[in-house]
Amino acid sequence: MDLQGKVALVTGASAGIGLAVSKRLAAGGAKVAMLARTAATLERAAAEVAGATAFPGDVTDFARMAKLPGEVADKLGGLDILVNNAGVNHRGPILNHSPDKLAEVITANLTAPIFLTRVVADAIRPGGAIVMIASLAGFVPVLHQATYSASKAGLRAFARAVAEELAERDVLVTTVSPGPVDTNFFGDIDKVPDLVFSQPMRTGDEVAAAVIEALNTRRREIALPALSGKLATLGYVFPALERFLRPALLRRGRKNKLAYIARRKAENR
Ligand SMILES: NC(=O)c1ccc[n+]([C@@H]2O[C@H](COP(=O)([O-])OP(=O)(O)OC[C@H]3O[C@@H](n4cnc5c(N)ncnc54)[C@H](OP(=O)(O)O)[C@@H]3O)[C@@H](O)[C@H]2O)c1
Repeated sequence: MDLQGKVALVTGASAGIGLAVSKRLAAGGAKVAMLARTAATLERAAAEVAGATAFPGDVTDFARMAKLPGEVADKLGGLDILVNNAGVNHRGPILNHSPDKLAEVITANLTAPIFLTRVVADAIRPGGAIVMIASLAGFVPVLHQATYSASKAGLRAFARAVAEELAERDVLVTTVSPGPVDTNFFGDIDKVPDLVFSQPMRTGDEVAAAVIEALNTRRREIALPALSGKLATLGYVFPALERFLRPALLRRGRKNKLAYIARRKAENR
């Protein structure tokens, strides 16, 4: 996709993957509307992205989201790309979380992207694209990330079905599903299941490059790394195989996690 002059709305754009995607879109010549809740952080992030405009907001504020695509189109002259990236994860056994906390994961990671996709479908120009940032946890559910896994599996299912509908209007719907990515998303690292680290770690910019690849090739799905996507699919289809491999993956994940913690310490993060 030629990004020159295109208008892109990126949710969760003030940090991590969303910021990296915003930078790559802007580098290609797109005008980027960046959305996140914390206005001061968002303004600082937008200042790093050429020609970007900050739109402070919460994706779970549906009254606001209903108006946002119109606001973006009025201010930036149209709308061609939506990147549904904002997401949350409350890790640990579900008994450690209130029902409200669990519902929040589904609202932010699944209901909000569906809501925004529907609103944007009225405003997006032909030739445009809607990108979902899902996760390998949407391919095979991860223990102690049950609600998160459900939200990402749901997002992937929604994207696959709605891609057929919107293709009729020449709008690409594509899903990028990364394994672990080195951002602030992990929060309290002790609560992140060891299994997560059994996959190779990516940077936010590598995920952003995959988003650009999806836009250029008009591929409907990219897993990152691709091999992990295939293995996760096998694990989903054959749960017994997943249970059989789990101890070895846990050992590898534990080792990688300790190395990652040591690296973060050395880098003062
Ligand atoms: N990092 C990983 O290992 C990984 C792996 C696979 C998939 N993913 C997915 O990638 C996406 C981005 O993750 P990340 O690693 O870049 O996370 P991050 O570094 O924590 O950044 C999250 C961004 O989303 C914003 N945000 C959070 N909740 C929001 C809400 N309700 N409304 C609007 N903005 C919101 C945050 O800013 P505010 O807090 O100021 O709103 C921030 O800009 C998520 O959907 C995540 O599930 C991440």
